[in-house]
Amino acid sequence: STQIARHLSTHLSVIRNVTVIGGGSMGSGIAQVSAAAGNSVNLVDVSEDVLKKSKKSIETGLSRVGKKLFSGDTAKINDFVNSTVTRINFTPDIISSVKESDLVVEAIVENLDAKQKLFKSIDKEAPEKTIFATNTSSLSCHKIAEVLSRKDRFAGLHFFNPVQVMKLVEVISISDTSKSTHDLVFEWSKTLGKVPVNCRDTPGFIVNQLLVPNLVQAILMIERGDATARDVDTAMKLGAGYPMGPIELADYVGLDVIYFILQGWQKEFPNEPRYQIPETLKKLIEQKKLGVKTGEGFYQYK
Ligand code: CAA
Ligand code: NAD
Repeated sequence: STQIARHLSTHLSVIRNVTVIGGGSMGSGIAQVSAAAGNSVNLVDVSEDVLKKSKKSIETGLSRVGKKLFSGDTAKINDFVNSTVTRINFTPDIISSVKESDLVVEAIVENLDAKQKLFKSIDKEAPEKTIFATNTSSLSCHKIAEVLSRKDRFAGLHFFNPVQVMKLVEVISISDTSKSTHDLVFEWSKTLGKVPVNCRDTPGFIVNQLLVPNLVQAILMIERGDATARDVDTAMKLGAGYPMGPIELADYVGLDVIYFILQGWQKEFPNEPRYQIPETLKKLIEQKKLGVKTGEGFYQYK
């Protein structure tokens, strides 16, 4: 009977209904891979316009996957795209979305106050069983979770851009995260075809702690006139085997995202030179040149 109980509890706790909050680059990618793995998904954003755009980008992303899966068979590709998209409910309604969810993955703007405000508002509304996860790039998961009553059902679940392609998920447990919460999100990320790794709740976890200071150094290099952006990118692609050069990657990730990451770290570690915000980055942000998503950053994409 213990075995049956264990089986039943495992069976009952499997994640099937997922709400992704934030329909930008990351949220729409997470919704896409979750739906493609068979989950029922709510994709929530405050902006109806963003929801329309994310539906379009998910359809494009799925047909790209479908083309590979069904080697150009149009009927099968369309069927795959349509059946996957119908598993996603695009909605501005956060409250009714979380009410039916096993897991909520937050992917809104990289700002502690905004994330805390959001989690606080859904903590009261979501059922007991619901696990909350944040896709934060750099903020302290402990701090985000301070506002929650369900700290044992909270974890960091950090995906990489583009979510459809990048295999890694960093799983962050805070001291309150229960083992079953950790195990559930860890195993769930595998069902999406991802490879999870564990990391303590440290600034930028593994990848961003190594990657972001590296992007900053590349920007400082072009500011000093040591080399042009093109040459820095060419050098790192051809000399270090990077798939994208650091300047291209900064544009790809979003200059606002890089800026928010550094701003958060600077606030916490004001004397750390590796977290200084380069002047060029500030200037581009002021000019609303945020990289690929706005058509211009260090490079032009129009
Ligand atoms: N959706 C679905 N599939 C996509 C895709 C998307 N948005 N973008 C690319 N692909 C697929 C393509 O279909 C292609 O698949 P096949 O090889 O099976 O045909 C494959 O990915 C390669 O794509 P492309 O040939 O078009 O282009 P590429 O070879 O230049 O690769 C890239 C594109 C995968 C983005 C590659 O340039 C890359 O790996 N860049 C670095 C990305 C990176 O470092 N990401 C991490 C950023 S940091 C982060 O995310 C953390 C944070 O918190 C800020
Ligand atoms: P984005 O700007 O593309 O999207 C954020 C979306 O959240 C916007 O569409 C916005 O309308 C929506 N939003 C803001 N506040 C909201 C709220 N209260 N409720 C519902 N929706 C809200 O940003 P992104 O690049 O997708 O990043 C999202 C998160 O993922 C950030 O925490 C970021 O640090 C992290 N992240 C980004 C990357 C990357 O490469 N861009 C990679 C990994 C993790």
